[in-house]
Amino acid sequence: MKTENLHITIAGGGSTYTPGIIMAVLNNIDRFPISSITLYDIDKERNDDMCLIINYMLQNNDLPDVKLTQTSDPETAFTDVDFVFSQIRVGGMEMREKDEKIPLKYGLVGQETCGLGGFAYGLRSIGGLLEIVGFIQKYSPQAWILNYTNPETLISEAVRRVYPNVKMLNACDMTISLEETIARNYGYNRENWIPKYYGLNHFGWYTSIYDKELERDVMPELIQKLKDTPMKVASFNSGDNSWQDAWDMLSKITTNFPDQIANNYLEYYLYSDDVVDHADPNYTRANQVMDGRLKHTKDVANLIRSGATDDVIDFDFGEHGQYIVDMATSILNDEHRRFMLIVPNYGAIPNLREDAVVEVPAYVGRLGAEPVAMRHHINDFHKGLMEAQNAAEKLLVDAFFEHSYSKALQAFTLNQTVNSAAKAKLVLDEMIIANKGYWPELKEDAAPVL
Ligand code: NAD
Ligand code: G6P
Ligand code: MN
Repeated sequence: MKTENLHITIAGGGSTYTPGIIMAVLNNIDRFPISSITLYDIDKERNDDMCLIINYMLQNNDLPDVKLTQTSDPETAFTDVDFVFSQIRVGGMEMREKDEKIPLKYGLVGQETCGLGGFAYGLRSIGGLLEIVGFIQKYSPQAWILNYTNPETLISEAVRRVYPNVKMLNACDMTISLEETIARNYGYNRENWIPKYYGLNHFGWYTSIYDKELERDVMPELIQKLKDTPMKVASFNSGDNSWQDAWDMLSKITTNFPDQIANNYLEYYLYSDDVVDHADPNYTRANQVMDGRLKHTKDVANLIRSGATDDVIDFDFGEHGQYIVDMATSILNDEHRRFMLIVPNYGAIPNLREDAVVEVPAYVGRLGAEPVAMRHHINDFHKGLMEAQNAAEKLLVDAFFEHSYSKALQAFTLNQTVNSAAKAKLVLDEMIIANKGYWPELKEDAAPVL
């Protein structure tokens, strides 16, 4: 494996997360010696904007020799590449808005990755990601792919069915930002923590958090603190009310189920009614992101375009970019750092089906991910929730490959945010129309009569 003059390609280069990732790359250039960055995106305007921003960052960091390329041509993007960071959003925020608003019309959770919005996104995203993985297998099969394109479990399940030996890590930043937020709120240092965690992506629980400095499991005291004093948003989400709502819900979950700390995304499954009641069906998270992060990125690009010379780079994405670079360097230097990764189960959670895609701690080195087995059974509450959700996810991926309407309907009905097969069908039928051109064509004749 090459260890210097590395070439990275960002698939979905126009994403608003790109500056945060590049910032982390530049801050770690000694450990991660790159000489070439390629931004690959199907949206030329967004890639143009991002290229301006990244070029500006390179100049301001005295790294003008790093080669910067932007392209929408797969061969150019993926030839001679060492690492691909993958963060595409098939259908963009416009389709995310539909994912969120259509289920809400029927009184169901409308969310980017959870519930039926997440399933709709999955049926769009799988094809886009498989195409990119295919390009990489063709032009740079030696490259490592670090994927965080959502919905992660569905992507991961689909990719491994087609490319079982692909060199790909699937990672989500939620556990990191959850830990960082807890640590900042209650006066701990996350760097000292060794957390134990298990679940599906955006659907998991901590069983202990050992603090190396304090030499104890701090989870019992954290549970007490979460019950007593709800967390405030950390600086990287400051001013973002929807994250404040999420942390308030986390306190509620912890109060009602105080045996473990849940991933905050479980609010969508455990308190679906509250989530629906609090949602504004005319202005959802996609609208907030379009009016916030997306607009801000465009404004920064325009400032640079108009010749601004002051430091206009003021993005704060918390740990997002850093964990991606940490994973890359852990592979590169065989560091065996520990991350939560989305991997095939194969006994890591011993009493869950072995072909489930789960999220558990894993050590990362030259061999990729080496997951940590729990070595104890999970109890019926968590197991029951996970088994149903996992079956729904498997059915959805089947529906993608088999173009099966009936499996899509089963998946929609079994999704843990849905309490009615009739509503599942109404949402599915409306989603089919809304996603024309993005979803595989589902075979209507396979539809069961409800
Ligand atoms: P975004 O829409 O702002 O950016 C995505 C970019 O991908 C756009 O520039 C778009 O043109 C491009 N794109 C879409 N389809 C493409 C394709 N087929 N090929 C190449 N480029 C394509 O979205 P965002 O908010 O920046 O998020 C990007 C992705 O990262 C999403 O999938 C999001 O869910 C995911 N994400 C995951 C995590 C995690 O923890 N796993 C965290 C943050 C974001
Ligand atoms: C967290 C999750 C991601 C998700 C993102 C949404 O980072 O781990 O999987 O995509 O939140 O954030 P947004 O600001 O786009 O709603
Ligand atoms: Mn995530």
